[in-house]
Amino acid sequence: MHRLTNRRILLGITGGIAAYKSAELTRLFKAAGADVRVVMTPAATEFITPLTLQALSGNPVHLQLLNPEAEAGMGHIELAKWADLILVAPASADFIARLAAGMGDDLLTTLCLASDAPICLAPAMNQAMWRDPRTQQNVDKLKASIGVKIFGPGVGEQACGDTGPGRMLEPVELAELASDQFETLALSGRTVYITAGPTREALDPVRYISNHSSGKMGYALAAAARDAGARVRLISGPVSIAVPDRVQCVQVESAQQMLDASLEGLADCDLFIAAAAVADYRPVSVAEHKIKKGSEEIMELHLVKNPDIVATVASSKNRPFTVGFAAETRDVVAYAQDKLARKRLDLIVANDVSAPGIGFNSDENAVTLVGPDSVESLPQTHKQQLARQLINRIARHLNEQAKTTG
Ligand code: C5P
Repeated sequence: MHRLTNRRILLGITGGIAAYKSAELTRLFKAAGADVRVVMTPAATEFITPLTLQALSGNPVHLQLLNPEAEAGMGHIELAKWADLILVAPASADFIARLAAGMGDDLLTTLCLASDAPICLAPAMNQAMWRDPRTQQNVDKLKASIGVKIFGPGVGEQACGDTGPGRMLEPVELAELASDQFETLALSGRTVYITAGPTREALDPVRYISNHSSGKMGYALAAAARDAGARVRLISGPVSIAVPDRVQCVQVESAQQMLDASLEGLADCDLFIAAAAVADYRPVSVAEHKIKKGSEEIMELHLVKNPDIVATVASSKNRPFTVGFAAETRDVVAYAQDKLARKRLDLIVANDVSAPGIGFNSDENAVTLVGPDSVESLPQTHKQQLARQLINRIARHLNEQAKTTG
């Protein structure tokens, strides 16, 4: 099911006793990281309540074609365009017939007509209805005309007491088959944490110590990791850029908060990329009230070292594959190799910040990817492009390591 992460699944439910299994199917899709929107026919609501599906999918359930309220939220054409895959489970004989006839007499058939997404059906009906030549012709027509995939049906005892083909496949089987419709990407099924942006270390209620990090590189890496099939958690200091779609973002201010957010759920994290510009030091104490200007010409600040987030992650039990950044002004590779060993990292993305027009707070970067036994230079390019190249290479190293460690 690992290919379902970040995929948009439109789950259609038609009237049939198997509709109760769609609740579990929705849960499985969500657990695999998919975004699920449920569409129910009126008959489906006789078997299972929309509220159950709403709670499990985390999204409003779509019920009617011409409902002004629903159309004001996500209209049916928008919903049709939104889907990466449409799965109708259970698909009744009546629904299959209406779909084969090209009808658009309810929301679900209309969506199937309006969408370019692949359509999969999980038939569920009495064995005689399934065997009926008219149903079989409808199925053949749907396969031949629009490439509809048919999942099942299974053979076995039916709710009506008959035995034969017509049982809806089990939710686990359906989720696996849905996952198989997508290609495996470099980070399919992986959970990736990325720190980004600066930290702010408070001096008093109105002042702080920080730096000029824009967060652009970390945010571009988050979008690239998402596109590579990963479930992404972006742990971000204050920046002024938008969080990429389908990326979970935890907003933090201080290094301590960034560390806490990085350690949360770390056991489930496969890859940790530290792109944040963490303040090395913070004030020993934060003044309760605004610090007043005094008569003295010189003011001394007492600072204490911040925790090293990436080194803490790399030293943790069951550590994820850990990647750090190194901004250097000379001997870039030598310093990166030293940092790699000192912080116990798997890879370091090193860049020469003395070079004009790249790195900190600019749109472009040029880096060298340094591993224990490898050095690879990636020439100057836009951060988005570089992020994609980096994610591909990091994924390759991660997958190679996973292979050797079994
Ligand atoms: O030691 P230096 O700051 O050069 O290391 C840079 C790398 O370490 C970056 O990946 C940065 O995100 C990470 N780092 C960290 N916590 C700190 C300092 C740096 O995670 N306190």
